[in-house]
Amino acid sequence: MNNRDIQAAWKYHDGTKHSYWSIRNNPHSLDWANRPRPFKIYPKLEPFPLPRDVPQTGVAALSAISEPVPSSRADSVPDLQDLARILYFSAGITKQRRSPGGEIYFRAAACTGALYEIELYVVTGDLAGLDAGVYHFTPADVSLRLLRKGDFRGNLAEATAREPAVAQAPATIICTGTYWRNAWKYQTRTYRHFGWDTGTLLANMLAVAAASGLPAEIVLGFVDAEVSRLLDLDTQREVSLCLVPIGRTSERSLPEPKEAPVLHLETVPLSQREVEYPAMLEMHDASSLESVEEVTQWRGKPPTLPSSGLAGEKVQLQRLPEEEQENDTIEQVILRRGSTRTFDRTASITLAQLSTILDCATRGLPADFLEPTPSRLNDLYLVVHSVQGLKPGAYFFGREQNTLELLKEGKFRTEAHHLGLEQDLPADACVDIFFLADLKRILEQYGNRGYRAVQLEAGAIGGRIYLAAYALHLGATGLTFFDDDVISFFSPHARDKSAIFLLAIGKPLKRKPQ
Ligand SMILES: Cc1cc2nc3c(=O)[nH]c(=O)nc-3n(C[C@H](O)[C@H](O)[C@H](O)COP(=O)(O)O)c2cc1C
Repeated sequence: MNNRDIQAAWKYHDGTKHSYWSIRNNPHSLDWANRPRPFKIYPKLEPFPLPRDVPQTGVAALSAISEPVPSSRADSVPDLQDLARILYFSAGITKQRRSPGGEIYFRAAACTGALYEIELYVVTGDLAGLDAGVYHFTPADVSLRLLRKGDFRGNLAEATAREPAVAQAPATIICTGTYWRNAWKYQTRTYRHFGWDTGTLLANMLAVAAASGLPAEIVLGFVDAEVSRLLDLDTQREVSLCLVPIGRTSERSLPEPKEAPVLHLETVPLSQREVEYPAMLEMHDASSLESVEEVTQWRGKPPTLPSSGLAGEKVQLQRLPEEEQENDTIEQVILRRGSTRTFDRTASITLAQLSTILDCATRGLPADFLEPTPSRLNDLYLVVHSVQGLKPGAYFFGREQNTLELLKEGKFRTEAHHLGLEQDLPADACVDIFFLADLKRILEQYGNRGYRAVQLEAGAIGGRIYLAAYALHLGATGLTFFDDDVISFFSPHARDKSAIFLLAIGKPLKRKPQ
């Protein structure tokens, strides 16, 4: 398969669209007796417990998500406490609830269906408190398990064609996706969810790294097979999705790549039986990079996608003044975040709150597939129901101008209910934010891997919106949608785009005391 053969991404995307009829005609039901385990467990490996009483950063959430770490020449090397903080606030268990289907362990970042199919691994040199090695992070007991002893950072540098952030990083975190854990519920859509759920987790990871004073960025350019081999993945079941180098060192001598023989480490089966969805394996293969040369070519900085021209009535966005912004720390906000289950339909938010959320969430994402200047693959389209200072209607967010352009005025709660898969949440929210992308141009520029990039970017911006909304004591939830109906709703402006992601913001309905 070839990354440039972009029919593969179109086939997957078109084949996994939701529509009114696809939902009704899908006979799939949840087999609770075969529900996958929420954790990857290596029964024969000893845990290396991570410290649990790590000092908080004290950095306000809104700054942590939107302000880059000042670049300094000095080394910034994480220690074990930094690593523990970053891993826990990205993928750790923050809440636990009993449900009819069993115990649910809610994690730091939102995840489709609370199925938590994204695993984290760390490839590190010697750090204060941790020996060099390749480790797996187990949220269940907040510990690392050593898969390979020794410094394998040279293998990552090689696999990324010496991407400078990876080559200079004292440690790199790798996100992987486990198909079955999510496909048990969502079947073939899981490959889209890989991007969304990695993205929300990355929003936390980048914010906590920044709050810890450590540079970090998203790296999507790597030879897939090399990284998967290093982590000893069974790639029929689990695949590497992205790398996040953490910190920077001026140390020049990176170790040479080492042999990484197959380990065949035993893991506890996720379910009695698993169903394989070949369309996802094909999509992954078709978006894999096969050689260092291909990585180098892929990474050649692509031209920024032109943003859609603005024509309609514009509203200037204006952030909350500094003194009115909440100063809760990033850790406090992550701990209280949760997806809103019911919005108060009678509530409204202010234009300044919405402006602050949009501004914080869309400040340049540090990623190897984006220009350093704030650029994006996704465009944001809004359905405004009740925002003080804005007429209800459909809008386009002009990032460069920091404006909302009115596309059509009107009360669209009924339409939002339909577009958001006939759920009440998008109808009752104050505003729904749809992510739409010019998939044609993206795939032409980046090949099939552009499909991974656009989904992941949406998840990461969506994850930042979650954090910014909770920082302001509002509520938010990710949602899914009827693909083509979303495009029709926002057309003609959105003609030729594809629906990628949806998130609603509002005020949670306060339950009346019983
Ligand atoms: C991309 C995305 C899409 C989601 N879609 C829906 C949805 O369609 N309906 C819904 O009720 N919740 C949806 N959720 C919310 C998840 O169910 C929720 O994140 C998960 O149960 C974990 O709970 P928490 O976010 O409160 O930690 C979505 C979450 C994400 C990240």
